[in-house]
Amino acid sequence: MADPTTPSAAAPAVPKPAPSKSAAKDAPSRRGFLLGWLADSMVLAWTAFAASMAAMTLGTLRFLIPNVLSEPPSKFKAGYPDSLEEGKVVERFKDQNTWIVRNGGIIYALSTTCTHLGCTPNWLEREQKFKCPCHGSGFYITGINFEGPAPRPLERWAIRIGDDGQIVVDRSRKFQNERGEWTNPDSFIKV
Ligand code: FES
Repeated sequence: MADPTTPSAAAPAVPKPAPSKSAAKDAPSRRGFLLGWLADSMVLAWTAFAASMAAMTLGTLRFLIPNVLSEPPSKFKAGYPDSLEEGKVVERFKDQNTWIVRNGGIIYALSTTCTHLGCTPNWLEREQKFKCPCHGSGFYITGINFEGPAPRPLERWAIRIGDDGQIVVDRSRKFQNERGEWTNPDSFIKV
């Protein structure tokens, strides 16, 4: 006779509840979402890193290679001496930082940079003077300072007559009156 306390081999097994369909689907899709999110984040991080490295490299190159192409050439032709009138200031080379002046039997090229703090003075024909709009310095037609805070005269560039008879100004060489350099024959043309 069978023992009633021992489970019978013939007793029907209680079936385990089958996992629901949606739970079975959710596990892999959540994993997939997480993996995708991680991959996207890594791509974003690497892209940002690469962009910042490229910007740093460009900045370094810009610093190491000066932008010399934007500089105007230091030498230029300024026409024939006969085209200049005595006592007149030629202003058409101002973008080359130069006034050409024929005055007192010589031609010279004055720098347009104020010797106070570097502004550009204006030539006042009626008053026969250069007047700086920044702090009021005044310079005679010779370039000598006579009013305002400018501590010294305007500078002159090297000037000569070229092979074709035209005036050639060379801004790579300057002459300062306070150093006695305006007597240098390269700082003027005798006419
Ligand atoms: S910059 Fe010309 S007076 Fe100051």
